[in-house]
Amino acid sequence: MKPILIALLAAAILPLSGCAPGGSGDAGPVDEKAAAAVKERKAVLTLMKSNFVPPILMAQDKIPYDAAQAQKNATRLAFLIPMLEDAFATDTRGSGVETEALDVIWEKPDEFAGKIASAVEAARQLAAVAGDEDAMKAAAGNLGKKCGSCHDDFRVDDD
Ligand code: HEC
Repeated sequence: MKPILIALLAAAILPLSGCAPGGSGDAGPVDEKAAAAVKERKAVLTLMKSNFVPPILMAQDKIPYDAAQAQKNATRLAFLIPMLEDAFATDTRGSGVETEALDVIWEKPDEFAGKIASAVEAARQLAAVAGDEDAMKAAAGNLGKKCGSCHDDFRVDDD
């Protein structure tokens, strides 16, 4: 057998033994696939946040209204939010990876998809009215409610 094959087999079998010498008790094998999936979805959410912050600060009169900036952020959000569907495709329940995602995401996938769709719609609306200050501020607030509504149902409540 080629050495590389042996190494691969060893890597595949080792975690099953569940007795890594000097291992830390009952901490199971790291679920690499789940870890990668959580990292990826957090990356999408982080980009969503950075694009949501300017419009919501404008809506709260904390920074000056800037139509071009709001337009740019809203267009990006309408592009990023649909990625949540792919980003949450991997079921990470019970993986032991640190996450605030609730199990209900994979128990009620249709409801979760509905929250994504409604947030996308709100982002598109924000993009459509970015040139009108009052409408833009209302639309940013509305989008914020969509973020919050999904967090209420599908994310660990840490406030
Ligand atoms: C369809 C549901 C859904 C929508 C819509 C949604 N989120 Fe979230 N968000 C989640 C879930 C679930 C988590 C927890 C992810 C985890 O810990 O694995 C999360 C976590 C986050 C995080 C923390 C990411 C991290 O690094 O831990 C940020 C920031 C965030 N969301 C921002 C937003 C913003 C801004 C919006 C709206 C523009 C939004 N989210 C809309 C479901 C959603």
